Amino acid sequence: MAIIRSVIRGVGGYLPKKVLTNDDLAKKVDTSDSWIRERTGIRRRHIAADGELTSDLGTAAGKMALVRSGIDPSDIDLVICATSTPDQTFPATAVRIQTRLGIQRGAAAFDLQAVCTGFVYALSTADYFMKSGPYKRALVVGAETFSRIIDWEDRTTCVLFGDGAGAVVLEAQPQHGVIQDRGILASRLAADGRYHDSLYVDGGPSSTQTVGHLRMNGREVFRHAVTKIASVIEETLVDAGLAPDEIDWFVPHQANKRILEGTARKIGLPLEKIVVTVEDHANTSAASIPLALNTAHEDGRIKEGDLVLMEAMGGGFTWGAVLARW
Ligand code: UT7
Repeated sequence: MAIIRSVIRGVGGYLPKKVLTNDDLAKKVDTSDSWIRERTGIRRRHIAADGELTSDLGTAAGKMALVRSGIDPSDIDLVICATSTPDQTFPATAVRIQTRLGIQRGAAAFDLQAVCTGFVYALSTADYFMKSGPYKRALVVGAETFSRIIDWEDRTTCVLFGDGAGAVVLEAQPQHGVIQDRGILASRLAADGRYHDSLYVDGGPSSTQTVGHLRMNGREVFRHAVTKIASVIEETLVDAGLAPDEIDWFVPHQANKRILEGTARKIGLPLEKIVVTVEDHANTSAASIPLALNTAHEDGRIKEGDLVLMEAMGGGFTWGAVLARW
């Protein structure tokens, strides 16, 4: 039976030029390269230049994804930007990206805020818009400037995050309704607001009228991460009717190498199937999955027909997974 699937036509990524190494950070706070590498796998992060905004990062990644997709920007009718660090409280960063890239006037464009799970939420949302609405081609961006909300004196958080952006272009295509189809095959989203205070920003327009700083109980996040992620992956695989050993590439949210490897072990995936980029850009929140997709596409690992599993967990808590055939 013919059905519509959201097929990934192009991917792009962008990291700001300025690099901050672990040794650079050890000069500012009481930390060390060995502590950061052993606990997280992170070696360096990129920091946006003064005046370089989330929309600039998102536009660069979006442009690359559009060029590679071969789709004309004027044919894009949906733009979703996943971000927790928008240029301004409003309007949405997505509308700036829309205009900068020459995307169709009158396309739908909005931001989506699910912190580190933002890209998974945005991909799933775009998929449902295309399957159940009139939308045919979408640009889905994850773009963040977390350096602007980090407390640079707090060693428990400042070593973990960085800036960056990634993007994919999706196209609604008729497929056969079988697991061999290209495109998004299944997705699951979840949230549990009881954990609000485990990872949050202590400011906002309605509460303090300030931007605020990121606060995290890292141990608490870690404690929940592997179990929540593994169970949402299992549900997504059951929805699609696929087994873990059919996955070609596991492209998780890049927060901490120990979480990625723990998750892969729990679901029974060999470590060689994990795409790991956290060492090069730290946790870039909503940007981390498309950045990792971009790396694995550029180096030839992800090829057409490969089954790709994406997952994330973050503030909220929110978590989710998307399964797609490239
Ligand atoms: O996208 C979701 C976002 N969040 C995450 O994924 C974070 C999840 N959590 C984690 O990745 C880990 O919990 C961390 C990497 C944040 C911390 O690792 P941990 O093994 O849970 O360490 P810990 O918090 O238990 O701290 C161990 C020690 C503490 O010292 P004491 O109390 O044992 O004396 C910390 O004060 O390490 C100390 N510490 C540091 N030492 C050097 C904390 N941060 C640092 C640091 N450098 N940057």
